[in-house]
Amino acid sequence: MEELKKIEGKENKMDKIVNLCLRRGILFPSNEIYGSMAGFFDYGPVGVELKKNIENNWWKFVVNDRDNIVGIDGALINVSKVWKASGHVDSFNDPLVECKKCHLRFRADQLIEEELKISMDGVGVKQLQELIDKHKIKCPKCGGDFTEVQVFNLMFKTHVGAIENDASLMYLRPETAQLIFTDFKRVLAVSRKKLPFGMAQIGKAFRNEISPRNFVFRSREFSQMELEFFINPEKMNDAEIKEDDLKTECFFYTQEMQEKNIKHEKMSFEHALEKKIIGTKWHAYWMIEFFKWFKSIGIKPENLRFRQHVKTELSHYSSETWDLDYNYPWGWKEVEGIANRTDFDLKQHSKFSGDELSFFDEKEKKKIIPFVIEPSTGVERTLLTVLIDAYSEREDGRVFLDLKASIAPVKIAVLPLMPKEELEKKARGVFDDLKNKIVCDYDSSGSIGKRYSRFDEIGTPFAVTIDYQTLEDDTVTLRYRNDMRQERIKISGLSEKMKELIDE
Ligand code: GLY
Repeated sequence: MEELKKIEGKENKMDKIVNLCLRRGILFPSNEIYGSMAGFFDYGPVGVELKKNIENNWWKFVVNDRDNIVGIDGALINVSKVWKASGHVDSFNDPLVECKKCHLRFRADQLIEEELKISMDGVGVKQLQELIDKHKIKCPKCGGDFTEVQVFNLMFKTHVGAIENDASLMYLRPETAQLIFTDFKRVLAVSRKKLPFGMAQIGKAFRNEISPRNFVFRSREFSQMELEFFINPEKMNDAEIKEDDLKTECFFYTQEMQEKNIKHEKMSFEHALEKKIIGTKWHAYWMIEFFKWFKSIGIKPENLRFRQHVKTELSHYSSETWDLDYNYPWGWKEVEGIANRTDFDLKQHSKFSGDELSFFDEKEKKKIIPFVIEPSTGVERTLLTVLIDAYSEREDGRVFLDLKASIAPVKIAVLPLMPKEELEKKARGVFDDLKNKIVCDYDSSGSIGKRYSRFDEIGTPFAVTIDYQTLEDDTVTLRYRNDMRQERIKISGLSEKMKELIDE
């Protein structure tokens, strides 16, 4: 079992990021004025832009830039049969213990991780019980003994309509994926796609987590970005992968490495395929694509690794899963999961609904139930990962977010040097001209140094300052966030130059 890093001291990086999120209104607890319920968050003005940029970036990469993937947006509350068929009613559980004295409830694996500082990924209920007994783990709140480890279903239930009975029972979706499977037949008919093709969705999901934690890393209401990519089961190795992509190297943490308790190793995807470490070529294709995507939104590749699920932790629907882990302040944890869901879901929904969910292959004149590769990631988790990876401090302690311009909530700050009428008038003109083309913000209050710092803190890559020289020669100061370098440029070429810089 892998050792987890200890988070030490009050002023650790995570505290600083949470503090930044609250101070700048990026993300904060929902219903704050009434005393919030853990695991629910609201986005403020900066956060909502960052969230939209991440989602739009993902959507473009997955849907708009490809001709074999289409999108949907499904309902949040679904009839109970959907979740019976999917296996979630029976299997979507977490291990739970309750303190016999103070009756506080804990997720058993997290409790042990915190107590022993070892990863519990893939550890089953029986083993968790043995560890609690062996290490005499007690309630962290009152020191009481725990009940035996039980399983707890994570789905939120509700009743729809005026009568509460089995027929009115519905569930808030715990994953967006099932809506793709239940919509498969209609979307296949209207989109007229051929295998292999994908259906993608971004939307809310809900999980009644026993103990939400690490800020928005594990929350009860969150958004997912999921792709279900349907493939002829006989053609799981037909993916075309570019040579350069195959040669890409990253850290791999295989089942075998975890069993032997050795560290992850760097290898190429080509090697991982040759050695059958990754089961199929389509699985490798999507692993590479999302490794590239996370890099494209600014995540440093040395902070990423692919960890293979060990047999005991595979979801009920998966034959092979790779988590893309990020090196969080509390250790390596999943930011994205890429699973081979086989034909499990389509078969289950065919059985439970009586509606056959298959693809008719005109050439071979036969029905095919496709296999599915599913890359699935949480929006909040991605956003938190972006913040952690971008968080930087200058020598004097001032904070800046090293965000890529493509996802920065504000791309350019337009700032008159001082709040003087003639400077403000000129600066407003510059802002009005830029704002139709690029997301900008205007700020004239406070010292110029403080305004630079405020925009640095939300990752604004460029600031344009209008001063008295501007009134004479129509030039402005362009300031770069990371190195604070400044240069003078003509207003006439400003929007062109800014577009070039942002596209870089
Ligand atoms: N659809 C996979 C997941 O929600 O984890």
